[in-house]
Amino acid sequence: MIVEDLWKADKNNVLMDEIQSVYVSAENIQQRVIELGQAISRDYVGKNPVLVGALKGVLCFMADLIRAITIPIEVDLIAISSYSQEARQKGLVRMVKDLDLPITGRHVLFVEDVIDTGLTLNYLINSLRARQPASIEVCVLFDKNQHRLIDLPIRYKGFELPDYFVVGYGLDYHERFRNLPFVGILKPEVLFNRRQSG
Ligand code: IMP
Ligand code: MG
Repeated sequence: MIVEDLWKADKNNVLMDEIQSVYVSAENIQQRVIELGQAISRDYVGKNPVLVGALKGVLCFMADLIRAITIPIEVDLIAISSYSQEARQKGLVRMVKDLDLPITGRHVLFVEDVIDTGLTLNYLINSLRARQPASIEVCVLFDKNQHRLIDLPIRYKGFELPDYFVVGYGLDYHERFRNLPFVGILKPEVLFNRRQSG
């Protein structure tokens, strides 16, 4: 039985009551993550890259991506505070947990779950760039480019998403739904005008 059917069949699963539809199945995510891992493994041979993720949304993607990479890598995580959409539009992003590893002279691959306006990513890339890595590239699972305010080159991209608010596979709505193994669209009545980051 595929995982989506298991979730739908569980009548006690209150999370499913708020999901309108499955947008990207667990199987399709896994397939794409393997392709991304293969591309990264090819491109970074001999470079020992540092993969950097921003908690918490990147949790599932990072866990699967690193296991699809077949060359030596190092992994680090940062955490940023979840400001409102308004605050982020002013470029306000606060790092609440910094990197453990020094990245000066290293090849850095920044891993993100979703890029919407690009403001969060822009802030983070700039602050990592100040540490003078040998290179810095971006790998994103979901690209929502309808609201892009800052255009950033994305080296590895999983899927393009339309302008829906999606949850699951690490992505949350007010901290819920991160544990869905697939990516789903919330029912409109569940959504309020507020956006959640993190
Ligand atoms: P940006 O600064 O507008 O690019 O915001 C990106 C951040 O917003 C992501 O790291 C997510 O935390 C959050 N985000 C954007 N779109 C979604 C979505 O559809 N579902 C869940 N989180 C989202
Ligand atoms: Mg995020």
